[in-house]
Formats: sequence, structure tokens, C-alpha cells
Amino acid sequence: MKALVYHGAGKKAWEEKPMPVIQKPTDAVVRILKTTICGTDLHIMKGDLPEVTDGRIIGHEGVGIVEETGNAVSNFKKGDHVIISCVTSCGKCENCKKGMYSHCADGGWILGYMIDGTQAEYVRIPHADNSLYPIPAGADEEALVMLSDILPTGFECGVLNGQVKPGDVIAIVGAGPVGMAALLTSQFYTPAEIIVIDQDDNRLEVAKTFSATHTINSSKENATEKVMSLTNGKGVDAAIEAVGLAATFELCEEIVTAGGHIANIGVHGKSVTLHMETLWSRNITITTRLVDTVTTPMLYKTVLSKKIEPKQLITHHFRLDQVIEAYDTFGNAAKEKALKVILTA
Ligand SMILES: NC(=O)c1ccc[n+]([C@@H]2O[C@H](COP(=O)([O-])OP(=O)(O)OC[C@H]3O[C@@H](n4cnc5c(N)ncnc54)[C@H](O)[C@@H]3O)[C@@H](O)[C@H]2O)c1
Ligand SMILES: [Zn+2]
Ligand SMILES: [Zn+2]
Repeated sequence: MKALVYHGAGKKAWEEKPMPVIQKPTDAVVRILKTTICGTDLHIMKGDLPEVTDGRIIGHEGVGIVEETGNAVSNFKKGDHVIISCVTSCGKCENCKKGMYSHCADGGWILGYMIDGTQAEYVRIPHADNSLYPIPAGADEEALVMLSDILPTGFECGVLNGQVKPGDVIAIVGAGPVGMAALLTSQFYTPAEIIVIDQDDNRLEVAKTFSATHTINSSKENATEKVMSLTNGKGVDAAIEAVGLAATFELCEEIVTAGGHIANIGVHGKSVTLHMETLWSRNITITTRLVDTVTTPMLYKTVLSKKIEPKQLITHHFRLDQVIEAYDTFGNAAKEKALKVILTA
């Protein structure tokens, strides 16, 4: 089969790899129908996650058809259409029982990271019973690709951890697909104001169409001053970091109001300064989280009922064998006006 293979920072190739096989009775092999590229894949390609080894197939999102199952898999059979969760979980260990699938003793985020991933014609999914979600044949599979990662990520790490409440003033720093997922799902809780901050005017325009009340281009204006002027000098109840840079996390430290929440989503490759000299007295809460994907079944219902329409995040379509071109487009998002790209096998 063909797959997108990482060969060290800055190096990747679409090349021949052996077909994945069932290694444990709890595994399934899935034939990929649709997959996509995540901001985290860009971090991997930059070399921010050096634990990813040469030869790894990247990708942790997608929908597909079950090709083969191990004899301990009981929820799925050959031919079933499934959403692949970016997080692999056994459902049985101590952390899984707490709903913290991201730290499953025999899983967590491993797909396209510690084991081969979904930017391929086929993928092996360990603990298939708990790591796949069934979808009826004929469902809108492109919309459902957004359930593998970005929707639960924006919602769990951003909105739930940020404790967004009715009437809140919130800021989302980063208008990539993950920030946009936080923007869409924050509206379950009817915040009064949603300020979206990015450096990409196109993405900020898109954020407005998704009901952002204010947008700030932080490369053109001082984002801290602008947020303070929009909030009568108070700052925001929840500052959601969806970039993964020191500068954007520190911006969240500057704009969070007394008693507010900083909810980090971004994958950070470098250290960040925690300004305790100003924050020690501010009664704030800082959260970090690797997405657990425990809310995927709930989010699935909101997508089916069109309460949220994540399909609107899709800007580009490619064939799976055009994945290198798709990386160029997603990696030059501002120039290409790209948000989510869909790769179809
Ligand atoms: N915690 C988790 O479980 C988890 C899961 C998925 C993704 N992530 C992370 O979430 C982040 C966002 O993912 P994405 O797919 O939306 O990525 P992305 O790269 O598409 O989006 C990042 C956005 O940040 C903006 N940006 C860059 N530098 C900026 C700056 N200095 N100021 C303001 N904006 C800036 C970019 O213009 C872009 O729109 C990434 O760090 C990704 O690794 C985390
Ligand atoms: Zn991801
Ligand atoms: Zn587990």
C-alpha cells in the first residue's frame, strides 16, 4: 500500500509500505476513505516532536471501512463504516475508567505518532472496540472526519476546560481548524462575546462567519490593548490558546480576567514563561489537556442534527496520493486561504 512517511524534520515521502496486519486480537485494520492533515502533523514535520521516528506513517484523523478484525473485537465487523478517533483507548484501564482516554495505559495519542497513522491506504487500529465509532453508510463522511480530532479537541481542551458559561467574554487565540472548532462548540454555552485572534486575515474573516463577535490581527495591532479596550480593561473569562507558541500562551496570560481560565490546547515545542509576578493574585486557573475524545459521541449527534456544521471548515480537496501537495497547501494556509483539507482515497 501507499502512505505518507516521515523521514526526519522537513522530510516526507509518499511511498510504498507493507499492508498493516492484525497484531493483537483487539486490533482492526481499516481501509481509509477520507483523511486530513492536523496542525500537529505540521509540528511533527517541523521536528517539534523528535520522539517521532524516521519511517513513521503520519496522520491521526479519518473515516474508513473495516477491512479485518481481530477475534476479540466485538463492536465492529468487516464492511462497517467508522470514524477513527485520534486517541487509542482500551476502555478498561484506570485512566480509561476515569474518562481520560488520552492517558490510556495501552494507548492514548499514539496514532501517526508512536505507531503508523491514517495518511495511508490502510491503518491498523489497536483497541478497535473503544477507538472506532460506527457511522451509518451514506452519512456525510467529510463532516465526520472533523470528529476524529478537531471537534473534541476544541471542545474538551478549550471550551470545557475553559469553563465557558452563558454571558462570558472569551478569547480564542489561533483561528486554525482547532481554534475554529472551539469557536463552533463554545456556542453551545452562549458566551456573550467571542474574540478571535490570529495573524491570518482570511481565517479571521471565516471566524466572523462562524459568529466571532470581534477579530484581532495580532500582527497588525496590539492584541492585549485591543482586548482590554473591548472588555473595559477587565480581560476575558476564558482565554483559549489554540496555536502552541510561547507568544500566544503569554498573550493569554495578559488577557485573562481575575478568576478566569486559560485553557491551553496548543502543542508546545518550546518552554513558555509563566508570569507568576502578575498572576499569583489573580485567582486564575490554567489547564492543559491532551484530547480524550470522550465527547465524540455527543458531538456526533450535534453534527448529525446540524447544530454545528464543521463541514464549513473544509476549504480544499485532494486525492490521497496528492498528500504532499495537500501539506504544501495546509502549511501555507494564509496564502492558500486553507483551513481543513480533505484527502480522499
Ligand atoms: N491538545 C491537543 O490534544 C491537541 C489536539 C490537536 C491539535 N492540537 C494543537 O492545536 C494547535 C492548533 O491546531 P490547528 O490544526 O488549528 O493548527 P494550525 O497550524 O492550522 O493553526 C494555528 C493558527 O495559529 C495562527 N498563529 C500562528 N502564530 C500566531 C501568533 N503568533 N499569533 C496569533 N496567531 C498565530 C496561525 O495563523 C494559524 O491560523 C496546534 O498547536 C496543534 O498541535 C492540540
Ligand atoms: Zn490532531
Ligand atoms: Zn485504557
